[in-house]
Amino acid sequence: MSDYKNFKILFTEQQIALRVQELAGEIRLKLEKFNPDEIVVVGLLKGVIFFLVDLIRALGSPDYHVELITVSSYQGQHSSGKIKMTDKMCNIRDKVVLLVDDIVDTGRTFASFVNHLKMREPKELITAAFLDKPSRREVEFTPDFVGYSIPDHFVVGYGLDCDESHRSLADIRIYEKD
Ligand code: IMP
Ligand code: MG
Repeated sequence: MSDYKNFKILFTEQQIALRVQELAGEIRLKLEKFNPDEIVVVGLLKGVIFFLVDLIRALGSPDYHVELITVSSYQGQHSSGKIKMTDKMCNIRDKVVLLVDDIVDTGRTFASFVNHLKMREPKELITAAFLDKPSRREVEFTPDFVGYSIPDHFVVGYGLDCDESHRSLADIRIYEKD
């Protein structure tokens, strides 16, 4: 397995924590127009785990519902192009859905999930990603909220993995093969 100590740090734990707080402030301004108990935060597993937990706590409302959905498209550092999802979510009709993922890459995961959720007629659908790689886009999609836009690097840490490795790093690093 590649040694993470040689990977360049893109964002430190402190930078991440600060940006999540700022982002939560921006998202809160948007969400405060709605009743807290009509808000459902939907996280796309597994990459989103760190960001989702930090974001929910920073948003600070005890009334938001939280749902988790398993989605996967990556094999190693390459997008397979096919999205697999496992969805046993609550009824979101007339709810305000905040759809959260770790990173937007080709855009396929978000785009297909937004379509999928829209068929269930939510009142509003808001999207947030901690990282965005706009230069990699293959389908049109712009998240409503983004932590950082980054160049075309494969990154690991803060929930992001390469074949399940390096997910638990506290900072975000540029992955390099040995
Ligand atoms: P998309 O469907 O191509 O936008 O891919 C989104 C998903 O691919 C993300 O939710 C991640 O799980 C994964 N992914 C994309 N880029 C990276 C990366 O740089 N590191 C780790 N996972 C990534
Ligand atoms: Mg993901």
